[in-house]
Amino acid sequence: MKPINVGLLGLGTVGGGTLTVLRRNAEEITRRAGREIRVVRAAVRDLEKAKALAGDLPLTINPFDVVDDPEIDIVVELIGGLEPARELVLQAIHNGKHVVTANKHLVAKYGNEIFAAAQAKGVMVAFEAAVAGGIPIIKALREGLTANRIEWLAGIINGTSNFILTEMRDKGAAFADVLKQAQALGYAEADPTFDIEGIDAAHKLTILSAIAFGIPMQFDKAYTEGISKLTREDVQYAEELGYRIKLLGIARRAEAGIELRVHPTLIPERRLIANVDGAMNAVLVKGDAVGSTLYYGAGAGAEPTASAVVADLVDVTRLHTADPHHRVPHLAFQPDQLSDTPILPMDEVRTAYYLRLRAFDRPGVLADITRILADSNISIDAMVQKEPAEGEVQVNIILLTHITVEKNVNAAIAKIEALDTVAGKVMRIRLEELASK
Ligand code: HSE
Repeated sequence: MKPINVGLLGLGTVGGGTLTVLRRNAEEITRRAGREIRVVRAAVRDLEKAKALAGDLPLTINPFDVVDDPEIDIVVELIGGLEPARELVLQAIHNGKHVVTANKHLVAKYGNEIFAAAQAKGVMVAFEAAVAGGIPIIKALREGLTANRIEWLAGIINGTSNFILTEMRDKGAAFADVLKQAQALGYAEADPTFDIEGIDAAHKLTILSAIAFGIPMQFDKAYTEGISKLTREDVQYAEELGYRIKLLGIARRAEAGIELRVHPTLIPERRLIANVDGAMNAVLVKGDAVGSTLYYGAGAGAEPTASAVVADLVDVTRLHTADPHHRVPHLAFQPDQLSDTPILPMDEVRTAYYLRLRAFDRPGVLADITRILADSNISIDAMVQKEPAEGEVQVNIILLTHITVEKNVNAAIAKIEALDTVAGKVMRIRLEELASK
């Protein structure tokens, strides 16, 4: 059979990795796909820089040369960002080409528009590399778990923040110092906002929630809180109480709607996912039939991400000649079967909490605090008062609550912060047991 022709948009880290893997494993990949997957052209920003890697691969600096090339069957978008990626992907679809993309921002933000265009044109848009790099989590959720009603999923889906949290715990280091280290190691971007403020994780969570529950992409409704305000004290207190703090993306089917939230989270240290360290990623999925399943691996990097890109290329190649109705739907559910279940506002989310506050060590202080919690219908699970540091008159009090509604906790925190005996702000970190039952 004649080869399938691929055009690459971008030959940076992931583009370079994709070319390398396709070349190195060409024989195995052809045996799997049933025909050769041949890269015929790549669009790059800097021709000189790309030459060494490209070898005899024709290069262009105009990406439209790739998306408008009639010889190309599949366009692989690896340039990232929203524009011109969106325009290029839509143009490729308009030209009847399949698209493979690693662009989580693009899929989370414009996925609904892109999938509708692809559906109308009868082409595929594959995005395995957009979530958790080399972990085949899209494939697992969309196909492997297709018998299940997914109840919830929770993922460590940003390697940079997981590296920072791991170093804070292991070395007792402060957030700002570890961030500098992550930047020096090339983990974090020069502008690390997307990584540390939970935005990158929210893009990925949005995509996972859509295929887990058969809902449209709703990035704008995801609650996003990052790790930049975490202190080493909190990391250490959590550890003393038997918990690790991880930046989790959580999507949960609740009675009144779907919870969609990214935030630092205490999880019991005995859970496997609590032991996912460094820049690694992991996603825990709870299905009603299968129970809990855990997917672990590298969430970034040239070849791990290329592994996902090439898997998509093989999938598209195998299904290229199939009737579009026989292909796996983009969001796992048939497009006319997507559900309008609402995303719950954060106030309505139910979870447990770690609260840390600084209070004067005087009679009645604890009674005031616990009364406020009781009046807000919040039940205390555990409480610790730390010794005051040398020469200090205030003490740290740490409370763990049972599961309650976020709005009650917010109201209680406001009242606690208003007490004369409490100094400064209450530190609030959500806590999830992630139990398999
Ligand atoms: N910045 C991302 C991370 C890279 O740290 O996980 C992969 O999306």
